[in-house]
Amino acid sequence: MTLRLVVLVSGSGTNLQALLDACADPAYGAEVVAVGADRDGILALERAERAGLPTYVLRVKDYATRADWDAAFTQATARHEPDLVVSAGFMKLAGETFLARFGGRYVNTHPALLPSFPGMHGARDALAYGVKVTGCTLFVVDAGVDTGAIMAQRAVEVADDDTVEALHERIKTAERAMLVETVGRAARDGFTVEGRRVRFGQP
Ligand code: GAR
Repeated sequence: MTLRLVVLVSGSGTNLQALLDACADPAYGAEVVAVGADRDGILALERAERAGLPTYVLRVKDYATRADWDAAFTQATARHEPDLVVSAGFMKLAGETFLARFGGRYVNTHPALLPSFPGMHGARDALAYGVKVTGCTLFVVDAGVDTGAIMAQRAVEVADDDTVEALHERIKTAERAMLVETVGRAARDGFTVEGRRVRFGQP
């Protein structure tokens, strides 16, 4: 069985591109069936269109409440019948309706070693704190901000003269490899979440 992925994006979509490239090999075990976004005019959507994929864009500001947006975004995502939803640079927190529908099969990639430096600026905050090692984390999304059970992490060293941009680019190189490897493993072997522990393979 090929795992159906819906990928959620807000920016340049290099993580999406890495998944698209990996999915070109049938042995990978997954296919991207649609790409969802919270804004137009982003490179990630161009990548999706270039790959011939259906896309959908729902902007929070077009809805009366955040809950209305969440319900509409859930429905738009569900239409593509994903087995796994991958947030890859998607800059919105999932709401209650989305989590009720996709909880346990909604994963997010973050540019820091959680639980350090959650939030919107993982690379910037790690550099400002002065850590010597940071990295990236793939986790199963729960109701908190970047608090879900951890599926994979990669370490990246911080250089003395790093800028936020240079550090984030190095993190993203590690992040793309982590994402491709872990989603592929999840597709081929499955995974279960027991408390905070994620285990690959059939239960
Ligand atoms: C990635 O580094 C991802 O971890 C980060 O945005 C970047 C997206 O890059 N996401 C967050 O910071 C979420 N809190 P991309 O658009 O090139 O894939």
